[in-house]
Amino acid sequence: MSESVNVTVTGAAGQIGYALLFRIASGQLLGADTRVKLRLLEIPQAARAAEGTALELQDGAFPLLAGVDVFDDPKQAFSGANVALLVGARPRTKGMERGDLLEANGGIFKPQGEAINAGAAEDIKILVVGNPANTNALIAQRNAPDVPAERFTAMTRLDHNRAVAQLSQRLSVPVSEIRKVTIWGNHSATQFPDILHAEVAGRNAAEAVGDQQWYADEFIPRVAKRGAEIIDVRGASSAASAASAAIDHVFDWVNGTREGDWTSVALPSDGSYGVPEGLISSFPVVSRGGKWEIVQGLDIDAFSRARIDASVAELAEERTAVERLGLI
Ligand code: NAI
Repeated sequence: MSESVNVTVTGAAGQIGYALLFRIASGQLLGADTRVKLRLLEIPQAARAAEGTALELQDGAFPLLAGVDVFDDPKQAFSGANVALLVGARPRTKGMERGDLLEANGGIFKPQGEAINAGAAEDIKILVVGNPANTNALIAQRNAPDVPAERFTAMTRLDHNRAVAQLSQRLSVPVSEIRKVTIWGNHSATQFPDILHAEVAGRNAAEAVGDQQWYADEFIPRVAKRGAEIIDVRGASSAASAASAAIDHVFDWVNGTREGDWTSVALPSDGSYGVPEGLISSFPVVSRGGKWEIVQGLDIDAFSRARIDASVAELAEERTAVERLGLI
């Protein structure tokens, strides 16, 4: 069995944290051969609740769990981190403008980026879940100049999984038969869930659906607004499904994507598909040897181009706003 891996989780006392930590402890994040040391970060007011979760983790008697520590100081929490899951964020509350939201989250992700820069392990991999995830990841990344930019990712895997599930229901095929779905752009209502390159049991998914109106007017908005649907029905925001997507994201990053498939990850653009360099935007990606690679050479039709451009424009506006606030 290998040395243990340090996994830092922020927002550990929150609802995603509660669903996520037990799956990490059971070995689902990195694989069944890897021992994990959990480093939980919370704000001081919630540190005691995180201590309670740590007690429950202990009670799970997980063979792969090498220890749990709770911190309220980012510098300590990220010290030696090999994997960092940035879940804690400031939610939008009533009367809050987007600028206020970005500023409040800057107050979280700037110091966390600095702490990662100061003390994380050489091989650090970062996933930002807390919203607005893409721009929070950008703030952290730009405040960690010594860490390779591509180690900073934001989560669109939940959107990806939602798109796969909707397609599976529509076509009455198991999710395992669906490949090459893509989420483009921002993890927001402007995202573009793309099935034009997807395959269902080896056949093109859009052709298998054969209903452009369903695609444009039902599928795309349903996936993009699924978070609001969950809040409406459950009375609380997605938590276990978000935790599950975070597990999938990191597992694939470490262990590779399956042959003949790809997934969706928001990562710093290298200019591919006309997305301005540096914006943390979602792309179709494969993982090989612990690195994400953007899938190249896909044909982008006019329908897709307009939707990708709209979501990327939103990301560019968010970047301008955080630049003006002096956060990056
Ligand atoms: P929650 O409100 O239950 O928990 C958030 C936790 O973060 C709280 O315990 C809070 O004390 C903590 N926190 C706040 N500031 C912190 C800081 N500076 N350092 C450490 N911890 C801090 O929220 P929940 O449901 O767990 O969601 C967390 C985030 O994930 C939210 O921003 C939510 O919008 C986002 N989310 C993202 C999804 C995605 O697909 N990217 C999907 C679902 C949720």
